[in-house]
Amino acid sequence: MVERVRITDVSPRDGLQNEPGAISTADKLKLVELLCVSGVDEVEVTSFVSARWVPQLGDAAELLRGIASVGLLSPAREDRGGGESAGWRPVLSALVPNDKGMDAAAELIGEGVPLGKLSVFTAASEAFCQRNINADIAQSLERFVPVIARCKVLGVPVRGYVSCVIACPFEGPIAPAQVASVCERLAALGVDEIDLGDTIGAGTPEMTGAMLSAVVGALGPRWLTPLRLTLHLHDTFGQASACVRAALAAGVRSFDSSVAGLGGCPYASVPGRRAPGNIATALLMRTLREEGFAPGLSADVDDGALEEAGAFAAGVVARARATASQSSAGGTS
Ligand code: HMG
Ligand code: MG
Repeated sequence: MVERVRITDVSPRDGLQNEPGAISTADKLKLVELLCVSGVDEVEVTSFVSARWVPQLGDAAELLRGIASVGLLSPAREDRGGGESAGWRPVLSALVPNDKGMDAAAELIGEGVPLGKLSVFTAASEAFCQRNINADIAQSLERFVPVIARCKVLGVPVRGYVSCVIACPFEGPIAPAQVASVCERLAALGVDEIDLGDTIGAGTPEMTGAMLSAVVGALGPRWLTPLRLTLHLHDTFGQASACVRAALAAGVRSFDSSVAGLGGCPYASVPGRRAPGNIATALLMRTLREEGFAPGLSADVDDGALEEAGAFAAGVVARARATASQSSAGGTS
């Protein structure tokens, strides 16, 4: 029987967070809707971060209330052989960096907004962690303690991201032992899952394999099943597909990706070099199939619907970039 792999599409969050042009909440809602229809397992919708730090995602609450009001659902999965009758919906998640972000998330969950997972995020690089969330690694982990406790009370699973698992834009290569050590500390805090981010897409299959071997060595193989380890690849040098193959060989069965390959962390950009996009969801699916796996946990992701979501996202971003460059050209003339 073909083994199934979990796909989390992060395009509404990672894909849009670094876009300077205005993108309407209605367009974000439409993108989430199209992703739900495609049948990906999870959609990372937004972040509860400071709008001063990430202006693009300042509409997190509005977007999530919009999602709740339209009740996004994918078509009945039995249509695609998933055996579920109707009303199936991907898990919707959002990033939460601290207790203040958790206040916002908890309020929305209290209103019935369907947030099925929340993600704290730290890094294996001190310099990146500081720039990204204004905290060193130890401080970031301290901030997560109340967030994780509140998630447990609410019954919401917590994902813990570790960025810069291969290299940091400011510190250079990161040792696998350092990544493993941060993962151990996150695991000790009680996160349900760990997501390993190659934030700048610097990994080769060999580096990815070495990093995963250190992490699995530290956490134990039970983190590979059931789906407690995810790989989150950015695709700078066209190596992401090969890294997925290496991760599959290492036992990873959960990957993040972004339709149209959009994405990038604003705090991983360096002057003259914008942070790279995520591995495109279509490329991830192709790679999985070539390796003999099926994309999607309980049924196949629908290629046509995914293509539609990708074309929509690419169009929205292209328009926002054109508007942003027109207004910056207007501003400097
Ligand atoms: P800070 O300035 O250190 O926070 O920011 P503070 O506690 O000193 O508070 C300063 C102000 O921010 C206060 O407001 C707070 O209320 C407010 P003021 O009194 O000045 O008006 N504030 C908040 N507002 C909204 N939501 C909050 C929040 N917390 C404080 N949660 C903070 C700390 C974490 C907020 C800030 O650094 C931040 O927002 N950073 C954003 C980082 C980010 O979103 N990065 C991109 C996502 S990570 C990523 O892309 C990597 C990943 O994809 C994996 C990979 O690729 O490796 C996940
Ligand atoms: Mg990322």
